[in-house]
Amino acid sequence: MHFLKISLAVVAVLAAQVAGQSSNSTNIYANYNYCQGISPIAHKTYAPIKGAKLHKVQVMMRHGDRTPSYVLPGDHTDYDICSQPAEFNFMANNQNSKIASTQSPFLRSNILVSDENLFAPTYWRGNCEVGQLTNKGSQQTKEVGQTLRAIYVDELKFLSSTLDPDDLYVRNTYVWRTKESAERFLDGFYPLKHRPHGVDASVITLNTYPQSIETLIMNPGACERLAILYEGFFKTPTYLNYYKSNYALMTKVNTILGVTNVPTYNTTMNGDAVMPRYCNKLPLGCSTTDPSQCLTAQEVVQAMTESTFMYSAVLRYESTAEEVKRLSVGPFLKTLSSSIRATTSALTKKQRHGTKRVRPFELYSAHDQSLDQVLSVIAEKLTPWPAYASTVIFETWETAAKKLVIRVLYEGKVVPANPNLKCTLDACPLDVFLDFVESYVPTDITAECSA
Ligand SMILES: *[C@@H]1O[C@H](CO)[C@@H](O)[C@H](O)[C@H]1NC(C)=O
Ligand SMILES: *[C@@H]1O[C@H](CO)[C@@H](O)[C@H](O)[C@H]1NC(C)=O
Repeated sequence: MHFLKISLAVVAVLAAQVAGQSSNSTNIYANYNYCQGISPIAHKTYAPIKGAKLHKVQVMMRHGDRTPSYVLPGDHTDYDICSQPAEFNFMANNQNSKIASTQSPFLRSNILVSDENLFAPTYWRGNCEVGQLTNKGSQQTKEVGQTLRAIYVDELKFLSSTLDPDDLYVRNTYVWRTKESAERFLDGFYPLKHRPHGVDASVITLNTYPQSIETLIMNPGACERLAILYEGFFKTPTYLNYYKSNYALMTKVNTILGVTNVPTYNTTMNGDAVMPRYCNKLPLGCSTTDPSQCLTAQEVVQAMTESTFMYSAVLRYESTAEEVKRLSVGPFLKTLSSSIRATTSALTKKQRHGTKRVRPFELYSAHDQSLDQVLSVIAEKLTPWPAYASTVIFETWETAAKKLVIRVLYEGKVVPANPNLKCTLDACPLDVFLDFVESYVPTDITAECSA
């Protein structure tokens, strides 16, 4: 709950926001499930814009299913669900993309939780680090790659069947699970048989910003003013009312978990600590003092849902929300829009000189908060919290009438737009879209971030 605790891991947390709280959102998010995001499906839920030509695709993907971001005292859950992701590490030299004789081309890491380790009793069981991508998460993100391959490679022929690494720009956060999620996405997007022979032609670069200057998630460490605004949110009526109305649920969950008197754990609902049990069909947990008292699925989902509020609400409620958005997601919106502009301006040159496309496909492998903060700007207020392996997809099209438009898909469907955007996101005029998102980009970040 405290700002300083907002390590990425904690941000990435959270929960099953009840699908659509406004009546109209309810329908389009009816199949929402925190444990499994939805991507568009070729020939089923996905259709190209009729008569239009696709120029660019930017995919933001939340990592797949993961373990809790912290170990609750007394949590002895057997998380034996992390053996797979560790098997997918490939290495290439930074300079020339060749595997040098001094490098190991394939390796495997293994998280060991064994009784030989004297500290092991304070940790859960199994083979998982905190906040690690699980086998399920690994499979989920691979499936996103396969699903999008069916659209952008097979159906639209927008990308070549055999990998051309120049067509892909990939970025992940510095966190292990988003890197692995990117790796697994690419495994589904360009399976081995669709990669050219020879290391030179088949290496994909995973770009990562240093943690202290990461822009894919809210970065209060880099922006002091943002830290102050965020802290301040916890003193607002919006937050205090939320806390009060969820106090009974929090007490109940924490009583069963046995942490009602454990400082730092007893002021949050611990949705993050228990939701992975639910998503992986593990025992949800019973009180050690009264074994007849057990967590129900409904309580777990509710605790998770409510937990997301502290991350989504600061961008949506109270008078500071607009400024929070600017300082939080502005830096990433700059990246997103600059890249679209680079693609479209190359288009006019290309017509003249036939030059190569500029970053036709981008993947941003990130966190729930990454997707949510972008949605807080462009979408209707009550979008559900980004589920595991969910995607927000930006497509830049040129219509039959030669107009450039942006389409945005979330949970496999066109996102209902923020009314201030003054367009619909099935085909928003490019200039309208870019002008709007760029209005959130700080023009003097040093001044705006100073306390
Ligand atoms: C739902 O959509 C209708 C029109 O389709 C609109 O009049 C109404 O205001 C919308 N309700 C909400 C809560 O957005
Ligand atoms: C958390 O535990 C501390 C220490 O036992 C206690 O003083 C505090 O009142 C508890 N807070 C809540 C919200 O239960």
